[in-house]
Amino acid sequence: MGIKAVVAGASGGIGQPLSLLMKTSPLISELALYDVVNTPGVAADLSHISSPAKITGYLPKDDGAKLAFKDADIIVIPAGIPRKPGMTRDDLFNINAGIVKGLIEVIADVAPKAYILIISNPVNSTVPIAAEVLKAKNVFDPKRLFGVTTLDVVRAETFVAEITGEKNPQKLTIPVIGGHSGETIVPLFSQAKPSVSIPDNKLAALVKRVQFGGDEVVAAKDGAGSATLSMAYAGFRFAEAVLKGLSGEKGIVTPSFVYVPGLPGGEEIAKETGCDFFSVPVELGTTGVEKVQNPLTNLNDNEKTLLKACVEGLKGNISKGVTFAHNPP
Ligand code: NAD
Ligand code: LMR
Repeated sequence: MGIKAVVAGASGGIGQPLSLLMKTSPLISELALYDVVNTPGVAADLSHISSPAKITGYLPKDDGAKLAFKDADIIVIPAGIPRKPGMTRDDLFNINAGIVKGLIEVIADVAPKAYILIISNPVNSTVPIAAEVLKAKNVFDPKRLFGVTTLDVVRAETFVAEITGEKNPQKLTIPVIGGHSGETIVPLFSQAKPSVSIPDNKLAALVKRVQFGGDEVVAAKDGAGSATLSMAYAGFRFAEAVLKGLSGEKGIVTPSFVYVPGLPGGEEIAKETGCDFFSVPVELGTTGVEKVQNPLTNLNDNEKTLLKACVEGLKGNISKGVTFAHNPP
């Protein structure tokens, strides 16, 4: 079966390298690039790469969004503005909420079965917005909607390896749960596989670095945006995991910010946290999320404290998104 993939926001700092990686994937047969600017150029450039995926570029004119998304199997969305120093991800809400809502409305109409992967910040709110739009159009399937939190996982691997001396950080599996901003990000080093030993005097700084890794990049870019290249890597890694699951590969488990009460195994997580959306390790299969794993039963005391702070912030982010979807300004 051929897979049609779409990148929405394809001309941006994340969109271009992400589109490059998608173009090189043997799992994709058709790649449509959508953005409000520059997609003809990006598509022409990538079209010279001798990989199988047939590439097209669309702008809003002439119903470009509808044509780009039509009958897509998987859609990755890095559309929207990034942070500058001094901003929180929530400061992006006013602009990005409307962008995501508009894109999901088109997707609901022309690609209701697509697997939708949302990168646009604030993820803690944009994913609930997407769910509400899909619900209103009667096409919401929790197994197919994902907030991409893979960059937090990638950072956890990298920063832990710097401490433990692991030569290949990608050998580490470290669940990072909760949301995708500051204290809502909860790395669970106690559940790392293989197990890792973090010295007590390094733990607090390590947790903080994973939670605020995005700020490190925003500060270093000094006004020129936030993480793009590491995010393109993380976004592609997650998209590939979804595609491998769809193709029947077994044993693919990675965290994602999903609508937990609608998923097998997720009801308990929603009850325990009071959050309907939560990043947890999801088992991916031929229909998307087959099951969510519950990492909350094995938390140590430090992780329990982190979880408490996480849910306090996350609940507000989620309800802000839900409210916006029902009462846009
Ligand atoms: P960018 O400004 O470089 O690119 C964004 C692109 O979106 C631009 O090309 C812009 O033209 C396009 N765009 C704007 N409105 C659009 C619309 N209605 N339809 C289609 N395209 C539209 O920004 P970036 O650095 O690529 O970041 C994009 C988003 O990703 C930001 O919100 C950022 O905060 C977020 N982000 C998320 C993560 C994560 O871990 N989930 C990591 C990094 C960045
Ligand atoms: C990140 O974690 O790098 C992204 O969410 C971008 C940001 O605003 O920090």
